[in-house]
Amino acid sequence: METAAPPQKHHKQSPLEKEIAKRRTFAIISHPDAGKTTLTEKLLLKGGAIREAGEIKARKADRHARSDWMDMEKERGISVTSSVMKFPYRNLELNLLDTPGHRDFSEDTYRVLTAVDSVIMVLDNANGVEEQTRKLMEVCRMRDMPVITFINKMDRFGLPPLELLDDIEQTLDLETVPLSWPIGMGDRFRGTYNLYRDELHLFSHADLEGNHERLPIDDLADPQLDEVLGSQADDLRFNVELISEAGNDLDAQRYLDGKQTPVFFGSALSNFGVGDMLDTFVEIAPPPQPRPTTTRVVQPNEDEFTGVVFKIQANMDPNHRDRMAFVRVCSGTFERGMRAVHQRTKDETRLNNATTFMARDRAGVEQAFPGDIIGIHNHGTIKIGDSFTEGEDLQFTGVPSFAPEHFRKVHLDDPFRAKHLGKGLKQLSEEGAIQVFRPLRGNDYILGAVGALQFDVTVDRLSDEYNVDAHLTGVQYTCCRWVEGPAKELEAFEHKNINQLFRDAEGALAYLAISQWRLDRMIEEWPALTFPSTKEHHAATQ
Ligand code: G4P
Repeated sequence: METAAPPQKHHKQSPLEKEIAKRRTFAIISHPDAGKTTLTEKLLLKGGAIREAGEIKARKADRHARSDWMDMEKERGISVTSSVMKFPYRNLELNLLDTPGHRDFSEDTYRVLTAVDSVIMVLDNANGVEEQTRKLMEVCRMRDMPVITFINKMDRFGLPPLELLDDIEQTLDLETVPLSWPIGMGDRFRGTYNLYRDELHLFSHADLEGNHERLPIDDLADPQLDEVLGSQADDLRFNVELISEAGNDLDAQRYLDGKQTPVFFGSALSNFGVGDMLDTFVEIAPPPQPRPTTTRVVQPNEDEFTGVVFKIQANMDPNHRDRMAFVRVCSGTFERGMRAVHQRTKDETRLNNATTFMARDRAGVEQAFPGDIIGIHNHGTIKIGDSFTEGEDLQFTGVPSFAPEHFRKVHLDDPFRAKHLGKGLKQLSEEGAIQVFRPLRGNDYILGAVGALQFDVTVDRLSDEYNVDAHLTGVQYTCCRWVEGPAKELEAFEHKNINQLFRDAEGALAYLAISQWRLDRMIEEWPALTFPSTKEHHAATQ
């Protein structure tokens, strides 16, 4: 199998290139309850980042136990540290970015995917591809992201493995290549056969550290198989033959292009099959990739530091409007205390108070390299999508807003606080906490969100931070698209549909529809216009 970044023959790697080659920045995507937390925990255990199983689960349980706003604030404090998990594995540095799920599924979840180079998709073997996974995969598709699949809970009874592969192929239009094959499931789960290394992994001898017996098998006719697996040996032979004849071969390039997904079967809870998957992941997953800007593509090995903001998190102390901007380093070396230019404002700032997830180097300076994430404290000056450079004028693209799926109308309880409401909503939308729309005709504020919890957060934060009491009511809209096109067409479109048209916080035109059917008809009726479901920030902020 080819590795993702083959060393070039006549090129001596610079120290920066060595750091880049060592990094893998990725996220785990899944539907709630498929086993993301359990798998994360097992990965961190393998990397030595946590000492015992239970630490991450305890954190998650904690989050669910809390409900009111102050508790949510505290939870945010916790999640700042857990939203970027850095751990070593073999000779690599892995950056695992958390994709908030369950109740806190939001636009942040989508945007995290714009900051990683590849993903691991976890499926529950009883359910196959579920709704949230499908949505997250749509976002991965926008950048043809490489995906490795882990089919979880094989210690429980689920769908037949071939049916699961078929589901991935049909639902996600992604070619599958099983690299391990399960032997039975539920109480008949005996282990997996690694098709790539020709090795039998036995579940019955597994412990929670992920240790288990491995039997190298040169030939599937080997009678050892019958000894160990009994009647299940023939099933395995049959399946392996079927896959090698009818299945796809692993093609590293097709994986890197996001067209093919290697598939592993296992049980995260029993730490079985996780190491198998991780070993392949570190072998084939891409190192930090080049990133597009409005003017050129930035290569990670360029000397000058550049970075892009993909997430903003409100911090513990609401009185100080303290925010943490999460910046993905795109090129060069970040060093604590260095000067960088905030490209939207052109302000030069000294990055002294950055949070890095890096060890110190010999000189005691904290550094970060492409693929790493740094957190910059600020008081509301930094927006989602902002770029930092050492001076070059450039603006990264690829950290868009995503069309909201839930909508509410804002009602102000005290009309004299209208100005404060406007200010609060503007800042919250810049932070990416909520999207705000104003009708072309009328004065309402319509809020849009990807996950409904964002509404509760907005109402609480308006009250706590801006002293504005407001309540929300339902509206009939169910989908939203931005609208772009030639000025003349846009004018005609606005004229005809004024009652369903809005401007977002950056002034971009948006169409809110009461049904997907209406939206589809509108798209049909106006072929000269485009109706994108994402919107880049730079267009309106420059
Ligand atoms: P999530 O983060 O994707 O939401 O899933 P999480 O890891 O929390 O797992 C959801 C449930 O599935 C948990 O059970 C977890 O123990 C279980 N689970 C995860 N991996 C496996 C597996 O490989 N096999 C089996 N049998 N179960 C698995 P729970 O009862 O909801 O929580 P808990 O009481 O175990 O904490």
